[in-house]
Amino acid sequence: MKKVLVTGGAGYIGSHTVIELCNDDFIPVIVDNFSNTDDRILDGLHQLLGYSPELYRVDCTDYNALKAVFSTERPDAVIHFAAFKAVGESTALPLKYYSNNIESLLVVLRLMEEFNISDLVFSSSCTVYGQPEKLPVDESCPPQPATSPYGYSKQVCERIITDACAARPALKCALLRYFNPIGAHPSALIGELPFGIPNNLVPYITQTAIGIRSQLTIHGSDYQTPDGTCIRDYIHVCDLASAHVKALRWLENQSAVCEAFNLGQGLGNSVKEVVDTFVRVNESALPVVMGPRRPGDVEQVWADVSKANEQLQWKTERSLEQALKDAWKWEKHLQQAGVKS
Ligand code: UFG
Repeated sequence: MKKVLVTGGAGYIGSHTVIELCNDDFIPVIVDNFSNTDDRILDGLHQLLGYSPELYRVDCTDYNALKAVFSTERPDAVIHFAAFKAVGESTALPLKYYSNNIESLLVVLRLMEEFNISDLVFSSSCTVYGQPEKLPVDESCPPQPATSPYGYSKQVCERIITDACAARPALKCALLRYFNPIGAHPSALIGELPFGIPNNLVPYITQTAIGIRSQLTIHGSDYQTPDGTCIRDYIHVCDLASAHVKALRWLENQSAVCEAFNLGQGLGNSVKEVVDTFVRVNESALPVVMGPRRPGDVEQVWADVSKANEQLQWKTERSLEQALKDAWKWEKHLQQAGVKS
């Protein structure tokens, strides 16, 4: 069985990917600095798997500490999630984002070369496209100037990997461009942990529905879209996680490759549609007000996922409704666990 180092493996997408790896007979080794997650996710993983995967509390920018992990574990492949991801915070703290997101990748790439490891799956974002001229957007669409340091850090990382692959053909990489991951594991044992006020739509919805926030503000209702609110491509986090396993399997059969793949549902939904769907499927009240546009938001973006469908043999299996049900179940689980503790 192949061993896969999962940096950021205790995080939101990382933890769901750990489950999918185990389901496909990979052995995950988690590396995480716990800057944006905590031990509740480890407890959830333990309950879901019946054991605790190997774990290192290590920061990926720490070359010596990560080298010790490579030395001990000798992984066959790497999935690199570990990065900061808050768009707004990145504008206030650009150096924090550039140093962490870029340095951690450089350390991972250096160690992959030193330990002769070929296969890398990298966590990128649809933010590289900005506001595409043609929708749905496919991977051939040229990247637009980034609107945030976070977005720029992803563009730089993609470029670094592309250059590294060109220089060392033994290195093979899948650059996975996520659209909007939402939801949680259907067991409600793992999900996205709230650290402060959520930036993203769905955690804000669930926190409002449960009473942590007083109301949801829809950021802008005067866009050139059918109902005036922004359109995104929301993908269930479990579908997103399974794409990482498919990407690893795909890499096994490639040589000298560095390819980008869109990972979304392939459908656009407006903010208002997400809100209405949440209320309908969960029979939950949700106080909503209309507010001004949020700076930096693109109007609409959704994915052409045919490349991932065809080359990775991957497709989504869960609907927006399912994702919003699972997100709500997770929020209620967090509340119950909070009451108990
Ligand atoms: N929104 C609201 N109210 C909120 C929160 C969000 O109306 O309280 C709206 C946003 O304005 C946007 C939509 O909901 O129109 C989705 O917003 P998110 O913050 O959930 O997601 P984004 O599309 O802005 O961001 C996501 C990822 C980023 C990535 C970006 C690329 O979170 O990591 O897509 O477009 F960079």
